Amino acid sequence: MKKRAVHMVGNWKMNQTLEEISHFFIEMSKMKMELKCKAWIAPQAIHISILKEIAFTTGSIQIGAQNCSEHEAGAFTGEISALGLADLGVEFVIVGHSERRTLYGESNELLNKKVLLAMKHGLKVIYCVGESLAERESNQTFNIIETQLSVGLKNIPVELAHLLMIAYEPVWAIGTGKSATAAEAEEAHAFIRSKLTTNAEQTIILYGGSVKPDNIDSLLCNENIDGALIGGASLKAQDFRALCSSGSTAMM
Ligand code: PGA
Repeated sequence: MKKRAVHMVGNWKMNQTLEEISHFFIEMSKMKMELKCKAWIAPQAIHISILKEIAFTTGSIQIGAQNCSEHEAGAFTGEISALGLADLGVEFVIVGHSERRTLYGESNELLNKKVLLAMKHGLKVIYCVGESLAERESNQTFNIIETQLSVGLKNIPVELAHLLMIAYEPVWAIGTGKSATAAEAEEAHAFIRSKLTTNAEQTIILYGGSVKPDNIDSLLCNENIDGALIGGASLKAQDFRALCSSGSTAMM
């Protein structure tokens, strides 16, 4: 039995058509299991409303966003505001995914602004950290994570610390089919927890990077791994269902 609630979070990235979404939920609804873990999905922003509607009728899946702006409001064409997400009743937002860091040049300082703004509007924040292959090979993993945490999570008001969740996603494991071993992941998770100054024991820390139905159980049996942030395998209802089923078993 896990100490903290297990979360299975699907990051759909820039995928899924309306037809695929509808197929996904039809397949999910065939799932004859009692969902004991949290099942969350972050679709493309344009699909948040429609997923919220479907999720409302199916009742068991919470919807979030993959990103938000560091600005409150104003002339920022194409951006997504944290206030707008909160207004829609969105549950959570992913901040600092490695694709945002590398493809869009988002720094720890910029991500800190996003974290604080999203929390100010009451959104749960899944803040992503993780090292590249070169950083791991040069023994920089823990320094990199420590800086990502200390800068990205600076000045979080104590009363909002309960909104923080963290995803440890080694960059070399994302979309590569090469997951970290359970021991590597647990070591990083324990390190992350040891660096949290508020709410450390309660904070949900997810592992991400090539999570699949066949490696989730070995990850979840570790003390500091409270669930997963899942890319590719969350697109297929059958796989996401299997992951949620493992998450539910880990809760019992
Ligand atoms: P993956 O992606 O599961 O396809 O490796 C994980 C992520 O990017 O969050």
